[in-house]
Amino acid sequence: MAAAVAAVAFFASRICCSPPAGSTLFFVRRFQRPFPLLRRRTSRLCSMARALSTHDTLGLTKPVAVDLPQITFSAKEIDISDWKGDVLAVAVFEKDMSKGSDSKFENPILKLLDDQLGNLLSETSAEEDFKGKPGQSTVLRLHGYGFKRLSLVGIGPCAPSVTTAYKVIGETVAIAAKNAQASNAAVVLASKPSENFRLDVASAIASGTILGLFEDTRFKSESKKYFLKYVDIIGLGSGPELDEKLNYASNICSGVIFGKELVNAPANVLTPGALAEEASKIASSYSDVFTAKIFDADQCKEMKMGSYLAVAAASSNPPHFIHLCYKPPDGNVKTKLAIVGKGLTFDSGGYNIKAGPGSSIELMKFDMGGSAATLGAAKAIGQIKPPGVEVHFIVAACENMISGTGMRPGDIITASNGKTIEVNNTDAEGRLTLADALVYACNQGIEKVVDLATLTGACVVALGPTIAGFFSPSDELAKEIVSASEVAGEKLWRMPLEDSYWDSMKSSVADMLNTGGRQGGAIIAALFLKQFVDEKVQWLHIDMAGPVWNDKKRTATGFGVSTLVEWVVKNSSQSELEPSPNERAA
Ligand code: BES
Ligand code: MN
Ligand code: ZN
Repeated sequence: MAAAVAAVAFFASRICCSPPAGSTLFFVRRFQRPFPLLRRRTSRLCSMARALSTHDTLGLTKPVAVDLPQITFSAKEIDISDWKGDVLAVAVFEKDMSKGSDSKFENPILKLLDDQLGNLLSETSAEEDFKGKPGQSTVLRLHGYGFKRLSLVGIGPCAPSVTTAYKVIGETVAIAAKNAQASNAAVVLASKPSENFRLDVASAIASGTILGLFEDTRFKSESKKYFLKYVDIIGLGSGPELDEKLNYASNICSGVIFGKELVNAPANVLTPGALAEEASKIASSYSDVFTAKIFDADQCKEMKMGSYLAVAAASSNPPHFIHLCYKPPDGNVKTKLAIVGKGLTFDSGGYNIKAGPGSSIELMKFDMGGSAATLGAAKAIGQIKPPGVEVHFIVAACENMISGTGMRPGDIITASNGKTIEVNNTDAEGRLTLADALVYACNQGIEKVVDLATLTGACVVALGPTIAGFFSPSDELAKEIVSASEVAGEKLWRMPLEDSYWDSMKSSVADMLNTGGRQGGAIIAALFLKQFVDEKVQWLHIDMAGPVWNDKKRTATGFGVSTLVEWVVKNSSQSELEPSPNERAA
């Protein structure tokens, strides 16, 4: 108990200068939109990143500055029959739908509503076969009641993961509100979660609502409006602890949305220079905790980053090596971390061009998904400001193109740790950029490094489109990332670093090849990265080639941001005070 109180004190001291008051929470975009002003000369922190935007964008596309969802969440303890507004959403488990011998709902909340509505709820749910299955929902339009619509939202048999199940409730509420053009809504759970989960449930509902509402319309000539402005979360308590948790959730959401926007932006708009400019904007927006270094090609050459520069060589959009450093406001640091993201703003494959069926060249703007997760997390960390932890955010941004100056299949290149690589496939470029980025990260005096990359199609074959593979020689770091991903509600699966597979990477002329056989491609890629990690540093690699993109919705997912933020916060001195949901459940 003492621990929880102390944790709140930290957040309270942080948000005292931000808008929230009482039990109301604002989700506001406080800073500039991502890249609407590509020509703007930005931060003095970024003096090295000059001439980023000397050309007009190819195709003359300029992203439009549109609004983000701005929802005021209020946690309330009121009787639902007293609530007045547009949409009242009741989230139900399957068991909540059971009826007694009198054919009435046994659940008191459903019974109360059904009685008030003259059995409309039981009749409609029976007619529509609403059983409370996950993602199932039904909406009743009402006249003469305090609320215009009543929506039942299914959670399923039981909550497998707190975050996932309750995020879906938020998403469903957002969809119902969009369909009804509602400006306000309330969410109530038919069955209250245990006291231990109260905060996590409320924050998952809020995150689901924000992310469910968000639509990326920057590249459409007509943008949509967000009608939903107020959401009451009823029955999960109220007070500063809950408000701070909701504020934390909204900070993560702003990082996730930023990550999605970076990935959705096409390669003609989001060049390596534009990505660097976005990174420097983060540093200038949160200049109390961030410093930025952006290195150009000449500076990378001085640092002997031959592997990264070889990938960048064909493009007329020059490479930009991004390094943001987060230090807590009081300057006290106990743990030093690094996050490295693959930042290929486009991957044509190079001379080994992505020409085969299913090679998805037209989607390869998403090949900077690792860097989007990295910078999305940086943005959220800039708002959350966790104490006791220093974090280095590193991206070797470039484009894998084809030209007379480009790297050829068969070339031998030299990375910044002196190791030589025979490039037998120019399409295995991500690992070449990460090699120099990992060497650089390990030189920052860090204890742990996590890299994220849309690295291999093989990982998508192995785990499908929604699960990322991760690799690590460190069981301790693996455990940390698994528990962070559980809190975040992102799916990760540990894969083996099978050393014997390294045999296929032997070169007769250089220290190694950059590709081995087709089999175990994700594992071999991870073994390649391991060559560039200092053995004294704990390292974990996440291959997020599948979950970076939602094929059905044709949009970016923002994958990785939430797990990274939870991991950093867990490594901050803050976490010594706050047990995880699983620890609390135990
Ligand atoms: N960016 C791709 C990986 C990728 C492929 C991500 C499909 C998402 C969907 C990466 O640079 C790549 O091309 N990898 C090759 C490696 C191969 C040449 C060993 C691949 O997976 O085919
Ligand atoms: Mn490639
Ligand atoms: Zn790639």
